[in-house]
Amino acid sequence: MKIEEIKKDAENEHIPIMLDGGLQFLLDFIKEKDLKDILELGTAVGYSAINMALLDKAIHVDTIEKDKERYLKAKDNIQKARLESQITAYYGVIEEFTINKKYDLIFVDAAKAQYQRYMERFLDNLKMTGYMIFDNMNFHGMVKDPSLTHNRNTKMLVKKIASFQHFVQEDERFDIILKEDIGDGILILRRKK
Ligand SMILES: C[S@@+](CC[C@H](N)C(=O)[O-])C[C@H]1O[C@@H](n2cnc3c(N)ncnc32)[C@H](O)[C@@H]1O
Repeated sequence: MKIEEIKKDAENEHIPIMLDGGLQFLLDFIKEKDLKDILELGTAVGYSAINMALLDKAIHVDTIEKDKERYLKAKDNIQKARLESQITAYYGVIEEFTINKKYDLIFVDAAKAQYQRYMERFLDNLKMTGYMIFDNMNFHGMVKDPSLTHNRNTKMLVKKIASFQHFVQEDERFDIILKEDIGDGILILRRKK
């Protein structure tokens, strides 16, 4: 199955996947930094995991998804792409997921309101030289301009994303880079040397 078909199917079924700009940035970053062991939080149907695995046969992606239908579709897509040896898909909730491995990259693309919790929860799984990347930092422009939404839940979510950004910017443990102009906004975090 071609990656373009997976993308088209996901779009037709209104399954959220990474925007082109954000994905391209992520793939270039993985290549440039030569990252091999990757944990992804938020598989959806495996589109970004498959893209990452296709970069290099030495890359391994562990990825987790809580929605059964999406998880099964991801397994199917991974199998059709013949990437079972490079991608391990887990079914479950991130909040209960534990794994005894260290990663070069932890890519966070799940519940935006939980980013701070995810960051703390998986910090021990990050190699000392590793990176965490968080998607949707702009949340469609609403983080900068909350008046773009009148929905109460969305307003709360946007506030949480802004407060997460503020938190990591102030946190002495990390160096961070915020790329607001890429995809839906990407935040890169690594431990201070
Ligand atoms: C934006 S999508 C992931 C897109 C995927 N990374 C891609 O670009 O192909 C986010 C996914 O995270 C899943 N998710 C959200 N909260 C989760 C949680 N607490 N545990 C596991 N999966 C979760 C959602 O069901 C959804 O499929």
